[in-house]
Amino acid sequence: MNADLQIQESLAHSNLEVRTSDFDIRPSHFSSSRLAQLTFGNGKRVDFPIVFAPMAGLSHVAFRQVVRSYLPAGISALLFTEMLSTRLLPGEDVGHTPQTQVAPGEEDLIPQLLGNDERLIAKSLEKLQAIRPAGIDINMGCPVSKVLKHNWGVALMGDIRYAEQVVRQTRQLTPLPLSVKMRTGLTDDPEYLVDFAQMLQEAGADWITLHPRIQANHRKGSANWSYIARVRDALRIPVVGNGDIQERDDVLRMQAATGCDGVMVARASTARPWIFWQVGESLDLSPPLGREGERAPQTPNEEGREYCRALNQFCEELEQRFLPDQQLPRLRLFLAWGHKWLFFGHYLSTRVNRCPDLSAARKVIDDFFAEAKTMQPRTSLQ
Ligand SMILES: Cc1cc2nc3c(=O)[nH]c(=O)nc-3n(C[C@H](O)[C@H](O)[C@H](O)COP(=O)(O)O)c2cc1C
Repeated sequence: MNADLQIQESLAHSNLEVRTSDFDIRPSHFSSSRLAQLTFGNGKRVDFPIVFAPMAGLSHVAFRQVVRSYLPAGISALLFTEMLSTRLLPGEDVGHTPQTQVAPGEEDLIPQLLGNDERLIAKSLEKLQAIRPAGIDINMGCPVSKVLKHNWGVALMGDIRYAEQVVRQTRQLTPLPLSVKMRTGLTDDPEYLVDFAQMLQEAGADWITLHPRIQANHRKGSANWSYIARVRDALRIPVVGNGDIQERDDVLRMQAATGCDGVMVARASTARPWIFWQVGESLDLSPPLGREGERAPQTPNEEGREYCRALNQFCEELEQRFLPDQQLPRLRLFLAWGHKWLFFGHYLSTRVNRCPDLSAARKVIDDFFAEAKTMQPRTSLQ
């Protein structure tokens, strides 16, 4: 039995059986990873193993700027946009819509396409040139019914030949590194999952992200990390693991336990965007720009203080980059996820939901943090 299979077995019952202390995670672990061997559209190689996830309504320029402020200085990372409809992109002023606007210097962006029609994908890719993407991703993971009925998102995983055609066509349309973000699929069938992932590789995907949950589970239950190890073992291309990362040690454990080439963080980044800094610290990388000489927040008190700071930065970015009526909905969504790790966070989120505009919400935030607050490392995630 090879090492990856042993890991699958040890992980089969719980994601939590592997302790970080069991593994030696060093920068060399990532620099030899397959993802670090790819060259992206900006001519750069990625030298940081955490990928910021696509999240509808969240992975916009304001939040990405917050995440960027926590990236170790001098590294090259990958950040996704939220999913972008190939039905809408061709008619949009890309670079100026709330979903596609970018900040100066965002040369590491992976726009994620939602769709399956070659003609629309072609037009979307043309439009996306305006924001100079580093790569392109195809969404094969979105589980919601209004997406499934168009045969987009994870529905594509139900028809391997059709999905193959979508990837082959997209491959022909762009020279940029092409990736697919996928789930376990519509059913829990690891052999089909491996066949599907191998099909993506043969059809021209340069790398994939696997969120190992089936469609029906949306984000419920636990992500089955053993499938990440299994798929990684079966492919030549890089495999980024995704699912249930909450704190620094989860990133290190997932990488050590599955051999994945990178780790994608979604929900926890709304609570703890400094997880990028924390992992950087574990890899002996520099602190973020402007935070020289500081350690990443770690204790519940330090994290509580940092959350206040990050939330204020998020509000400032919203004010600077979005129209007034676009600001509050984005703050509400950010808090709807992030508050779960914050003590009394539910109170804050509820109060902000009642505010008429961002400036009222900022007053609520100031009052809330007038007394020091703490954060917990983990939450039920449900
Ligand atoms: C609010 C929200 C929106 C999401 N939108 C997208 C999306 O647009 N595209 C996508 O591929 N996944 C999307 N996801 C899924 C995440 O990228 C990720 O796969 C999932 O949340 C599991 O990772 P996590 O445990 O780190 O949260 C979304 C998740 C959330 C919570």
